[in-house]
Amino acid sequence: MAHQLLQGKKGLIFGALDERSIAWKVAEHAVAEGAQIVLTNAPIAMRMGKINELAAACNNAPVIPADATSIADLENLITRGMEHVGGKFDFVLHSIGMSPNVRKSIPYDETNYDNFLKTLDISALSFHKVLQTAKKLDAINEWGSVVALSYIAAQRTFPGYNDMADAKSVLESIARSFGYQYGFAKKVRVNTISQSPTVTTAGSGVSGFNAFIDYAEKMSPLGNADAEQCAQYCISLFSDYTRMVTMQNLFHDGGFSNTGVSHLLIEDLNRLNGQ
Ligand code: NAI
Repeated sequence: MAHQLLQGKKGLIFGALDERSIAWKVAEHAVAEGAQIVLTNAPIAMRMGKINELAAACNNAPVIPADATSIADLENLITRGMEHVGGKFDFVLHSIGMSPNVRKSIPYDETNYDNFLKTLDISALSFHKVLQTAKKLDAINEWGSVVALSYIAAQRTFPGYNDMADAKSVLESIARSFGYQYGFAKKVRVNTISQSPTVTTAGSGVSGFNAFIDYAEKMSPLGNADAEQCAQYCISLFSDYTRMVTMQNLFHDGGFSNTGVSHLLIEDLNRLNGQ
């Protein structure tokens, strides 16, 4: 159902690891909608992942490695990326998350602070670094759009989400604060999408993830949004139809965030209580 919504636009996409990645779906949809893209991921992820397969399917998009916590890598990526597309970018997707504490199953109240700092650097400050580097290199056209992916644990506690919850709060705050700066300076818009739990490599690392998915499915009038649907929402935010949307955290969750309790959960509880 492509509509050429991104015809002539150029995009930079972080975070496609494998075909389950949200960024993977965004890349496919962006190209189907007429965009020219540059792909990037951390050097180690590129060795483990399948990004070259994706690049081939995306009109042989260039793949430029960059650790999103390294300013030198980001400067190289954005400079070389602009050379590839022959100008500035119109959209950027930040689809990056990793917590060493989650990976090592270290509980939130026994956190390892070196790990915690890495979580914040990779999952939140990297967004600031991408924005600051792009602004410094004047790499995004006026009315360009930058989107990062978040999760509702930024607002409400989901214990298994651990220090990623704090990282997502910072990420959403950066979208507001940098969106203000970039809006006045260059008319560039900056938003986060708060996505339903989705089966991906990053998602599945969260403890109790299957229960998260089932719970959210039952709590959401429309059910959980999947990666494909998230990609479609990203495309709308990259398009010219959402030019005045900036500094927002936008829930893409089938209604989960505004539901207190659902009749499906009450029925489950009644069954458990033998009623
Ligand atoms: P994924 O595991 O496919 O993607 C995460 C990406 O982050 C990987 O490609 C990984 O290589 C990259 N990354 C990690 N460290 C990096 C670094 N230092 N530099 C550059 N890239 C680095 O998983 P998914 O789910 O597609 O995650 C994408 C985004 O969506 C993340 O921000 C995640 O928190 C967010 N999100 C995911 C949800 C889910 O349930 N899967 C729900 C809501 C948000």
